[in-house]
Amino acid sequence: MGAITLPARVHRTPRPLFTCLIIFGILGLWCARTFLHQLWTLAALPVIWWDHSDRFLLSAQVDDFDITFANYSVHQVSAAPYEDRVPAILHHVAMGGAGAEAHIEKWKTVRQTCIDMHPDWEVFLWTDDLANQFVADNYPELYDMWRTYRYPIQKIDALRYMILYHYGGVILDMDLQCRRALGPLRRFNFVAPAAHPTGFSVGFMMASKRNEFVGRLVQNLEGYNRHWLGLPYPTVMFSTGCHYASTVHAYQPNRSELKILAGPPNNFKLHSLNGHVATPIFDHLGSSSWHSYDASMITSLGRAKTWKIPALMILSVGTTLFVIRRAKRRRGMKA
Ligand SMILES: *[C@@H]1O[C@H](CO)[C@@H](O)[C@H](O)[C@H]1NC(C)=O
Ligand SMILES: *[C@@H]1O[C@H](CO)[C@@H](O)[C@H](O)[C@H]1NC(C)=O
Repeated sequence: MGAITLPARVHRTPRPLFTCLIIFGILGLWCARTFLHQLWTLAALPVIWWDHSDRFLLSAQVDDFDITFANYSVHQVSAAPYEDRVPAILHHVAMGGAGAEAHIEKWKTVRQTCIDMHPDWEVFLWTDDLANQFVADNYPELYDMWRTYRYPIQKIDALRYMILYHYGGVILDMDLQCRRALGPLRRFNFVAPAAHPTGFSVGFMMASKRNEFVGRLVQNLEGYNRHWLGLPYPTVMFSTGCHYASTVHAYQPNRSELKILAGPPNNFKLHSLNGHVATPIFDHLGSSSWHSYDASMITSLGRAKTWKIPALMILSVGTTLFVIRRAKRRRGMKA
């Protein structure tokens, strides 16, 4: 009798262990579902970004818009005869304690080119004190998170979405020199320049007041506020930066009105603001003074991450399947 029960118990022992592992695995996945969903949305951006891009990329065919701007007067401050949906307001953000003063001084003449190009527009310069007051007054529920962001650039990015939602208008980085007025673009509810290789840049955005999409950019800040492996670049990009904003854009049900300004297919980077470039509307004079880290090193890290995440997911699913098959086969052999 004993001789029969003993071998049976020996071959049964791994089974409960295995079942436990599976149950814990499933429980773990369930608990981490929000995180995994975010990871998935962020990782999928290079693919889903291009869905219906013919509708949201500004073009002559769909929008009757001249993306070279050659057809528009340099001084055109209104979209007339179209309706102006973007209010006549220029916002610049210069936060970062003592460094901000020097930053304002350094880019004073550059910023002034944009003010001069848009005479009679309302002008805001968001310094630390103004920004603190604004967030405390208008987004009290986000204030603690906003105040304690680890990197200054996160505070700046998040503030951009909040002021754009609250006031509407145009948000410009301090290092953008205006070559022409932005009037022709004011007929669209939202415009931002295409980034390379996917998504858009948040250094220049235009929006109508209380724009629904910009509201989503504010609402999602809290959910996406994570430290990604303690690395500055992924943390900034995925919590508040271009990758974050582009992901929210990609998941909007109808992106037709959320315009992205890019060049024609044979010169797609015409309006890209990466690096020290001249586009039809701006001279980007390039500043990395807000980044406390080596941007190029961190850029390569960030790029690696976008393919590493799906690769890791596939690898872990593959390993699990392999383990299950082996366990099944072993059980089959013994039976
Ligand atoms: C620019 O203007 C010319 C002449 O009026 C017109 O033929 C052309 O279609 C315009 N281009 C765009 C892209 O609007
Ligand atoms: C998306 O919005 C545009 C303009 O707001 C509208 O013309 C179009 O029919 C909408 N598309 C879908 C699929 O709902």
